[in-house]
Amino acid sequence: MTSPKKLKKKKYTKRYSICVVGAGHVGLVAAACFAELNHKVVCVDSDEHRIQSLKKKKLPFYEPELEPLVKKNIKSGNLSFSSALGEGIKKSEVIFLAVGTPPQVDGSADLSSVENVARIVARNLDSYKLIVEKSTVPVKTGRKVKEAIHRYKKSNVDFDVASNPEFLREGKAVYDFFYPDRIVVGVESKRAENILKDIYASLKTPLIVTDINTAELIKHASNSFLATKISFINVVSHICDLAGADVEKVSLAMGLDKRIGKEFLQAGIGYGGSCFPKDVAAFIYIAKKLGYELNLLKEVENINKEQWIRFVEKVKEHLWILRDKKIAILGLSFKPDTDDMRCAPSVNIIESFINEGAHLILFDPQAQNQAKKIFKTSSKLKFSQDPYSAVKDCDCLCFLTEWDQFHKLDFKKIKKLMHYPFIADGRNMFDGDALRKLEFDYIGMGKL
Ligand code: UGA
Repeated sequence: MTSPKKLKKKKYTKRYSICVVGAGHVGLVAAACFAELNHKVVCVDSDEHRIQSLKKKKLPFYEPELEPLVKKNIKSGNLSFSSALGEGIKKSEVIFLAVGTPPQVDGSADLSSVENVARIVARNLDSYKLIVEKSTVPVKTGRKVKEAIHRYKKSNVDFDVASNPEFLREGKAVYDFFYPDRIVVGVESKRAENILKDIYASLKTPLIVTDINTAELIKHASNSFLATKISFINVVSHICDLAGADVEKVSLAMGLDKRIGKEFLQAGIGYGGSCFPKDVAAFIYIAKKLGYELNLLKEVENINKEQWIRFVEKVKEHLWILRDKKIAILGLSFKPDTDDMRCAPSVNIIESFINEGAHLILFDPQAQNQAKKIFKTSSKLKFSQDPYSAVKDCDCLCFLTEWDQFHKLDFKKIKKLMHYPFIADGRNMFDGDALRKLEFDYIGMGKL
C-alpha cells in the first residue's frame, strides 16, 4: 500500500476540518488522502446515489489503492460522505472545490458548477473559511469565485480564495498524492498560505507559493506541455515509419538527455482521458480570449488525431479489405490501471473498423463495463471474457492499451488460435522481432 508509513509517524501541526466538494476522481482521492493525513474530512456530492454507495464503501470508479484507504478512514471516523453541501461547508474551515469543469464545444470549460458551489459557500459563510480550487480551471477563475462569494454572502465574515491545482494521474492517483513532484499553492494572504502549508505539512516535497492566476496557469501549462511532448514523439514515430527507423531507440536516446527526460516519450495511438484533450482545448481557448492564437497547441491536437487515423490506415494496408475481417481488440481504456474510457483513442479506432464492415471482439481487464455503455453488443461487435477467446479465428489482433497482464500472454497459444497471425501494436508494447520469430506479422507505431 502506497500510504507512506513515515508520514504516519510525523507530528501533525494542526488537524483541519475539510470539506471536499465533488466525489469524482480528483475529489474522492483528495478526500481519502487528506483523511489519511489525519484531517477530518467530509466529502460532499450532489449525486445522492453516489453518496449512498460511498457510505456503503462502494467506489464509483476503479483506482488502485483507493478502496482500502476509503474503508480505513471511514472506520477511523476521519472520512465521511454527505449530499448536504451547506452543512459540510458550515462544519469546515477549508473547502476544496473538486467539481467537474467539462469542456464545451468551443473548448472553454463549463464553470457553472464552480459558480454554483461558490454561491452556496457564500450563503453558508458563518466564520472564516478558505475556499480552494482543486479542479482544473482557467486563469482568473479564482477572482471570479471571490467576486461571487462577495456578491452572495450575507454577513461580513472574512474568507480567502486559493488555488491548489491537482497533478495526480489516474491509475496512480494515491501514490501521486503522497509523493508529488511539487505542490502549488496560489494565495492572496499569509493566512491562506499557512493553512495550506499546514495541511500538506507531512508531505516532503517542494511547495511553490504563487499568486492565484499563476497557480491556475501552471496546471494548464503543465498538461499542455506533456501533451506536446507526446505529440512530438508521435510525429517522430511518423517520420520513423517513413524513413524505416525505430522511434523506440530515438526516444531512449533522447530521454537520456536530462534536459529532455525519458517520461512521456512513448509513441502510440495518441493521448486520451478526461484531462489532456480537455486542457489543451481549454488552454487554446484561454489564450485566444487573452489575445493570443496558440497555434502550437492546435498542431498538438492535429497530430494526436492523426495517430489513431494512421493506426487504422496501417491495419488496412496490411489486411487490404476490412469488410468481414475478424479483429480482436485487447485494451480499451485510455491508459492502463483505469477503467476510464473518456476520449480513449480505442473508441475512434473501433468506430472506424465498424464503419469499414469488420467484425470486432473486445476485451479489457477493467474497462469492459464502461465500454459496454459506449458500444452495444451486436452481430458485428462482441465482448470477450478473456484474451484467448477474443483472438479465436481472428485476422488481426490489436493492442490499444498497454496493460501489464498482456505481457504475460502465451503468444504460441495465440498464434494457434488466430486465423491469420497479425499483431498491430498501437502502444509499441512488444518486441517485434521476438513476435516475428514466432511467425507473427507485426506492426507498431514508428518501430521496426
Ligand atoms: C494527466 C497528467 O499526467 C496529470 O499530472 C494531471 O493531474 C491529470 O492529467 C489531470 O489533469 O487531472 P492522466 O490523464 O491521468 O493525467 O493520464 P496520463 O498518465 O498523463 O496519460 C494521459 C494520456 O497520454 C494517456 O492516454 C496515455 O496513454 C498517453 N501517453 C502518456 C502517451 O501516449 N505517451 C506517453 O509517453 C505518456
